[in-house]
Formats: sequence, C-alpha cells, structure tokens
Amino acid sequence: MKIKVAQSYGSCFGVKRAIKIAEDTKNSYTYGPLIHNNQEITRLDKQYNVKLRTNLSDFKIGDKAIVRTHGIEKNELKELKEKNIEVIDATCPFVTKPQQIVEQMSNHGYDIVIFGDEEHPEIKGVKSYASSNVQTVVVVSIDDLKKFYLKDRVAVIAQTTKRVDQFLKITNYLIRRHKEVRVFNTICNATFDNQSAASDLAIESDVMIVIGGKNSSNTKQLLNICLDHCKDSYLIESENELEYNWFKNKKQCGITAGASTPDWIIEKIINKIKTTYSY
Ligand code: F3S
Repeated sequence: MKIKVAQSYGSCFGVKRAIKIAEDTKNSYTYGPLIHNNQEITRLDKQYNVKLRTNLSDFKIGDKAIVRTHGIEKNELKELKEKNIEVIDATCPFVTKPQQIVEQMSNHGYDIVIFGDEEHPEIKGVKSYASSNVQTVVVVSIDDLKKFYLKDRVAVIAQTTKRVDQFLKITNYLIRRHKEVRVFNTICNATFDNQSAASDLAIESDVMIVIGGKNSSNTKQLLNICLDHCKDSYLIESENELEYNWFKNKKQCGITAGASTPDWIIEKIINKIKTTYSY
C-alpha cells in the first residue's frame, strides 16, 4: 500500500505562533484551550508548565494569562486587564482581523452577518466586538438568514475555517436582497489550502486518514471533504485508534491533518501505518 500525504496539511501559521508564544512564556495559564488539540495541551503543561484554565475568576494578580488562538470575548479581555493580570495575546492575527471588522462596521451602522457556528469560541469572540446599536446574526445557512430582517446596509464575514463555496452562497443571497453589502473574506488560506489538497488526495486514494482533534472544527471539515470523495475516510487523534480493517486490500492511503495538529503527532501516526499496516 502506498502512503501519500496531502500537498498542504497540518499546523498552520497561527497554531505554530501560539505554541511558540506559550513555550517562550512558560509558567503561565491559557484561558481556554490554547489550540484544539489535547495532546499538545498536555505537552505544554508537562514541559513548560503552561496550564489550562477555563474559569476567568480563577485568575489572580501576578498570573500570566495567554489568550488562545481562537480569541476570547471583548468583555473577558477587559476583565483580565482590569484585574491587573499580565495578558499575553496568542490570538491568531486571522481571527483578530474579523474582530476588528465587526467592531468597525457595526460602529458605522452596518448590520453584521457572521457565517459560522454560534457556539464556536472564535465566533463568540468575534460577535462580542459588535456594537449593540446594530443587529448581529450568526448563520450557517440561507435558511438561517431567512429568519432575520436585516437593514439595507449589511457587512458579512466568515468563520476562518468555513468552506468558501458555502460562504459564496450566503454572500450571493445577501447581494440580491440588500442595497449595500460589504463582503470580507475572512476565511484563512491555511484552511483553504489544506481543504483543496485533501480533496485532491481523497479523489485518488481508497482510504484517507484525517489527523486532528475531534473537537476541532477545521479537522471535522477536512473529514467531510474527504468523505465526499473517499467513503473510507477516518478521523483520529492518535496512532492507537488505527484499525487493521481500514487498510485491508487498499492501494493508496492518503494522509491529511487539521490546522491544530502538531507535526510530532502526524509523524507518529505515519510511522505506525508504515510499520504495521503497509503490506
Ligand atoms: Fe489562524 Fe488560520 Fe490557523 S485562522 S489559527 S492560521 S487555521
């Protein structure tokens, strides 16, 4: 069985940057998981004493708080600063951008449409930057959009990990119905490059392994793209989840990984496939 990795896969610029910031800071706390990958969070704890905190009230003066890649809500950031906590911002610049756009456009009176998952931390953070004078809606589909009555002037952004084709459907719908639509393409290239490479590889493979956190939105998205082209596509977090049956009578195993997956995890999995399942 041939093993082929996608042209573009794994750790993006924002994740690498956040991990470096955490390693350099040491002895600190991240507010919420730094990235969506539990193994990496455990490694940072063990090797650098960077611990995870999920409760804002646990932070005390003298603590160092690292803001995760997906960002946090505006009022939470304010609260940390007011408590005189040293805040180290590891928010990915591609997430800071939509936060700024939402703040500016809502201040200019545009209703805000966010194409994303309401419960995702990135979206909760981005939404929190909207001024309360305008309507801000979070949608995943045109059906969702139909539930709202929006003003003539609308600004639209997307969650960084969303699919471009779906974003185009939303913008297309808005443009046909509103006098002024300001479209900001906030989908990040890392996601897009990983997605198109995964799609190309899934077309030519008869089994696909997608590596990444099961709570990671972009990893789940990669799995769906792979499943569109290759029915034997599996999402795993570690080499222990690999199953013998997946590789039986297969000619090519394609490998891709989500944007929060560090290289050391990917290497471990590829090695296990090579040594154990590559007949
Ligand atoms: Fe940033 Fe894009 Fe990665 S938004 S965290 S570079 S997937």
